Amino acid sequence: MKINFFNIVGYYQFMIENLIKDDMVAVDCTAGKGNDTLFLCNIMKGRGKVFAFDLQEEAVKATIELLEQKCAYDNYEIIMDCHSRIGYFIDVPIDVAVFNLGYLPNSESRISTAFDTTLKSVEAILERLRKKGYIFIAAYLGHDNSVERNSLFDYLSSLDSKRYKVANHRLININNYPPELFIIQKMHDTL
Ligand SMILES: C[S@@+](CC[C@H](N)C(=O)[O-])C[C@H]1O[C@@H](n2cnc3c(N)ncnc32)[C@H](O)[C@@H]1O
Repeated sequence: MKINFFNIVGYYQFMIENLIKDDMVAVDCTAGKGNDTLFLCNIMKGRGKVFAFDLQEEAVKATIELLEQKCAYDNYEIIMDCHSRIGYFIDVPIDVAVFNLGYLPNSESRISTAFDTTLKSVEAILERLRKKGYIFIAAYLGHDNSVERNSLFDYLSSLDSKRYKVANHRLININNYPPELFIIQKMHDTL
């Protein structure tokens, strides 16, 4: 895969591609139009399982349609629900989870991710994350006065550094709120 490190989605997809292993479990926490779900299914090549969540019917339909058209594998489950309820659907260790926060692209819908449910979802995933597993979070600033990104930054900065590594990737010479990437790795099995 050719990588543009300044494109947040390209950057996390590049990293995820380098984490692939047999029988892994990946979660797309914001399925949207299905691009990340399709990416995960394709790089996992039918091995393991991909779960994808979105609370909007429009997004779930778009994701199912994209996968039916372009995915050669069937090891996925699309769930129309809030990602804060991940614990009701997934009871196996998670290797990789990805959030692409914000609104459904190219839609009239103004339903956006919000910090309280994003936080519950991140906490549920951290509990289930396998040792050395990763969460990638693409966060968008500006549209909500950067409340979701800033609250996430504060929460992730406070995680115990003995248990989690957390990085924040951002473009620092661009105005107009470029998106940011948070990368979280769990260092130990849940204590
Ligand atoms: C930026 S889009 C995701 C783009 C997607 N990854 C793609 O590849 O097309 C954000 C999505 O998050 C969804 N969303 C918002 N709040 C959510 C929640 N609490 N639980 C699950 N999905 C949510 C929205 O419906 C929207 O489709």
